[in-house]
Amino acid sequence: MGAEEQPQERRRPGGTLRAAALSRSFDGVAAVREVSLELHRHEVVGLIGPNGAGKSTLVNLLTGFDRPSSGTVELQGRDVTRWSASRRGRHGLARTFQHSHPFRSLSVRENVEVAALGAGASPAEARGTADELLELLGLEGDAEAPAASLAHGHERRLGVARALATRPSFVLMDEPAAGLPEAEVPEFAAVVRSVRDDHGAGVLLIDHNMALIMDVCDRIEVLDQGRTIAAGTPAEIQANLDVAAAYLGESAVHEDPS
Ligand SMILES: Nc1ncnc2c1ncn2[C@@H]1O[C@H](COP(=O)(O)OP(=O)(O)O)[C@@H](O)[C@H]1O
Ligand SMILES: [Mg+2]
Repeated sequence: MGAEEQPQERRRPGGTLRAAALSRSFDGVAAVREVSLELHRHEVVGLIGPNGAGKSTLVNLLTGFDRPSSGTVELQGRDVTRWSASRRGRHGLARTFQHSHPFRSLSVRENVEVAALGAGASPAEARGTADELLELLGLEGDAEAPAASLAHGHERRLGVARALATRPSFVLMDEPAAGLPEAEVPEFAAVVRSVRDDHGAGVLLIDHNMALIMDVCDRIEVLDQGRTIAAGTPAEIQANLDVAAAYLGESAVHEDPS
């Protein structure tokens, strides 16, 4: 472990995850263009926009699963643009994937424990973390089942539990509620709030469920064609017809709500 990786840094309170003018092109096509945003601890920021807007690419850039063509990523005031994903993970940054890949032959509990162990927990701590998170995510009944046997909605929740098992300061959730039955969405909203309020983490939440986004987010950033086209409170975003045009398509904005 180098001088830059003292464990106590992981527990440094407060802090910010910051993207500064991040851009990423694929074969000359810009997927993310000059995007800047800040995520603080103790807040939930929504990231919305149509399919192909660049949301997942931005999460990949922030978490180190991809590298920007230009721009920087700062974590707790340090430039981490060249850091690997695992190193960022050890410094408090966690994510869920749009298409999650649990260890299918391991049990649900073991999946959470493995994530905790990977973040440096002792076996006893990992068991405690798994108990706590399986309860938070409503997965106690599935604890001993193989992850491969989970229904889709429960697999989404396992993805969130695995991310939280690393005790992150920041957790970036890429469509974690996609495929959740509508009836389970309020419960999921409570989980997101708990991550903010009880764990003190900053949450970046990507989702197409506008009711969920408006309900739980403190702020919202809107991407379209790789650019930030709006940012504000849920009320401000709700009121922004330009955003609605980009998000719903021109016709939806002008349609009579009959
Ligand atoms: N690995 C990749 N190679 C080439 N193009 C990509 C790659 N990843 C994303 N893109 C393109 O970048 C754009 C943004 O994609 P993405 O970030 O997945 O959007 P979103 O998550 O908002 O739906 C899309 O046009 C997509 O096709
Ligand atoms: Mg995506």
